[in-house]
Amino acid sequence: MRKDFLPFSSPLIGEEEINEVVDTLRTGWITTGPKVKRFEEEFASYVGSPAALALNSGTAALHVALATQGIGPGDAVITTPMTFCSSVHVIEQVGARPVLVDIEPDTLNIDPAKIEKMVKSAIRIPQSAIKALLPVHLYGHPCDMDPIMALAQKYNLRVIEDGAHALPAKYKGNFIGTIGDLTAFSFYATKNITTGEGGMLTGIPEMIEKARIWSLHGMSQDAWRRYSDEGSWYYEVIYPGFKYNMSDIQASIGIHQLKRLSKFQVRRREIVQRYNKTFSRLEELEIPIERPEVEHAWHLYIIRLKLDRLKVIRNQFIEELKFRNIGTSVHFIPIHLHPYYQNKYGFKPDDFPIAYREYQRIISLPLYPKMTDQDVEDVIEAVTEIVRRFHL
Ligand SMILES: Cc1ncc(COP(=O)(O)O)c(C=O)c1O
Repeated sequence: MRKDFLPFSSPLIGEEEINEVVDTLRTGWITTGPKVKRFEEEFASYVGSPAALALNSGTAALHVALATQGIGPGDAVITTPMTFCSSVHVIEQVGARPVLVDIEPDTLNIDPAKIEKMVKSAIRIPQSAIKALLPVHLYGHPCDMDPIMALAQKYNLRVIEDGAHALPAKYKGNFIGTIGDLTAFSFYATKNITTGEGGMLTGIPEMIEKARIWSLHGMSQDAWRRYSDEGSWYYEVIYPGFKYNMSDIQASIGIHQLKRLSKFQVRRREIVQRYNKTFSRLEELEIPIERPEVEHAWHLYIIRLKLDRLKVIRNQFIEELKFRNIGTSVHFIPIHLHPYYQNKYGFKPDDFPIAYREYQRIISLPLYPKMTDQDVEDVIEAVTEIVRRFHL
């Protein structure tokens, strides 16, 4: 058995990132400045988006996106229950109503067929209130964007994508970040690239420039220029904006993480293949899929327990892994099970039966480029042993 604890996630930070941060600190320009600009340009060019805006979190990117699209009180936004709370909190924060739609059983992404049913049925929410779709590319597997974009066109809805897991993912040859109106990415410590905390928003230049103003107090010109020789002290406030800008310290890390992203992805795929090879032979488990029309970002690797073939439930399985020094997580506790959303909207667990059912059998295993081959073997050995011990 493994001697030390294998964390569920750990970032891979190199000397380049460290040296760039030191360089930034020495220049004296530590808030939003030239390195953020460079990071934005390089990110936009990586995913093939015409413009990008760096922010201090993925949540900030989503919040700014909704504000930029003018979504507010009286409006409704359709999203998935199977996501991190912040995808839905931002809808609440702009004063709109989140409308949850259940997921597909294979990818666990929002089910486009059910979106249309929801829009058409207009139970409780008039069709005219629904202003946007907020699909989440869960685990890095893109949502089925063709039907989602077709629905958006049919019902005149904006599409704001939560791409926190989806760098770099592709749908039918196009990078996530180039399909909907705006796409939010996250550079939180566990993500495919990190800036400690950080995020990015991609979209057309007109929207991104509006979002830039929203992200910095609603001030009508680049505030960072105020203090340089190109700048002036004068500004006008045109929106009640946020303070969500990224700093040059964060961008210093991001620039080098982005350079290494392709290599990170090769390693992620290697680990996924190694996991798949063994776990596909265990009848007590279901392994993640990658549909033929997508490129998965493999942010997370989820096994699903076939509970009718095991003597343990998910929580015990996690305890058994912990006992064997393997860190895991669960992505996610569905939104409709959280007290805030239950109290406000009266949700019951079976309102979204697929999300509820799948939640009870998902476990996220460690998957990150820093893992050694031995780490990967240790995870495989621990999972296999638990399955053998507790199978029915
Ligand atoms: C699906 C999803 N959306 C949004 C976020 C928010 O990103 P951040 O932590 O950068 O605010 C996260 C994760 O952390 C996430 O997993």
